This record gives sequence, structure tokens and C-alpha cells, in this order.
Amino acid sequence: MNKKIITSPSIMCADLLNLETSVKELENIGIDALHIDVIDASFSPSMPLGIDTIKRLRAKTTLDFDVHIMSTNNDWFIEQVLAIGVQQISFHYETSLHADRLVNLIKRNGVRAGLALNPATSLSCLDYLLPQLDQVLLMLINPGFAGDAGEKQVFYSEKKISDLADLIRRRKLATEIQVDGRVSLESIPQLIHAGATNLVLGSTSLYIPGRSLQENKKALDSSIENGKLKMSVSI
Ligand code: DX5
Ligand code: ZN
Repeated sequence: MNKKIITSPSIMCADLLNLETSVKELENIGIDALHIDVIDASFSPSMPLGIDTIKRLRAKTTLDFDVHIMSTNNDWFIEQVLAIGVQQISFHYETSLHADRLVNLIKRNGVRAGLALNPATSLSCLDYLLPQLDQVLLMLINPGFAGDAGEKQVFYSEKKISDLADLIRRRKLATEIQVDGRVSLESIPQLIHAGATNLVLGSTSLYIPGRSLQENKKALDSSIENGKLKMSVSI
């Protein structure tokens, strides 16, 4: 099986003072979607982008918007981003009292729905909801704390991804597995081998400092190819 690996650069890692230019550059190098982190400073202590910025950005590009809501108020943020016009919304299981209702709300609006899980959250929360989800977003670091340059991927990343991939395979579903947090050039082959199908690209891949976006993209493409190769060898 040669599944497409979806590339989703995390826009909070781009030049926030020149967002329009940053997005045009991404369009030019060829990526699949913009990963937009919406953090409310209550879920975790960070607030990179506001709703109005996302709205203004919507008018500047036709790229897919893949929104990752990290909030204790999912209802409000989901309504806001639905009104902007986005292609995919993931929200956190840990802050949703009515996850099933929110997934239905997103899908009713013709938008892909994803459930995001913190590193320590068990996959058992997916037992009943999995068939309704277009993607599961697995956080490989604690969400919202990416500003701490020393933070590393949790050691159980690959195990969690492959457990989820088994679950999806056994239930004959087509759910994407998005991985987010220190998805580095070095770790991408293992993450793809474990079953990741959608990569959120940040400070350790597309935005490695001191190198051009083109250089990073080239290295990224070869890292993804290595991952696919690793997969085809082990099948
Ligand atoms: C985590 C965010 C990520 C973040 C990842 O708080 O959801 O999208 O930007 O950045 P890196 O890849 O640099 O850890
Ligand atoms: Zn994210």
C-alpha cells in the first residue's frame, strides 16, 4: 500500500509578521494544507493566532485550512472557524464534554472532523467515535508548549501510532493519523513506518532555522521517501 503522506505546515512556526508572504512561499513549494493552531491560553499557556488573523488569511489563499483547536471552550471556537470556511477541524477530547455532538456539528457543515489526543490520553476514548472521524490527531508533545525549545517527543510516540494504525486497519476504516509536535526530519521515517499519514511540520522539519524553506522542503521530501521505503520493505 502506497498511501499519500499529507504535509501540513504549522503556520505558527512561520514569520507571524509576514504571514501573507509566508503562505505564498508555502504555496510555491507545494504543500497540502495549512495547519492552524488555535490556542486560547486557558488550555495551555500560549496564544499564537487570533480568529481575525485566520479570517484575514482565508481571503489570501485557497490552500486547505486544517484547524487544531486547543481550547477549554470548543463550542465557541468551532462556531468561529466554521464561519470562516475551513476544510478540517480537530478539537481536543480532553476538553469536550460532548465530543460526539461536536463531531456531528463539524460534519454537518461539510467539514472534515478530527479528534485530538494529548500524549497521555488513551486510545480507548476512540472506541465508539472512531468510525465518525476523518482523522485522529496524536500530539507527540504537550500541546501549546512548543515554545520550549528543549521539549522532546514523548518516548511512546511510535507505539501509540502503531496501536492506532492497527485499530483503524482492524476496523477497516480510512481514518488519517495526524502527528503533531517535534515531527523532525530524523523521526519522520519511523513515524510513517508506524502508521502516520499526515505530518504537522514545525521547527524540526520545514522551519529548521538557518536554512531556506526550499532546502528544508528538499530534506523533508527525502525523509518522507525514506519512510515510505521503510514501510514497503516491512510489508
Ligand atoms: C503544538 C502545536 C504544533 C506546533 C508544533 O503546540 O500544535 O503545531 O506548532 O511545532 P514543532 O513541530 O516545532 O514542535
Ligand atoms: Zn497543532
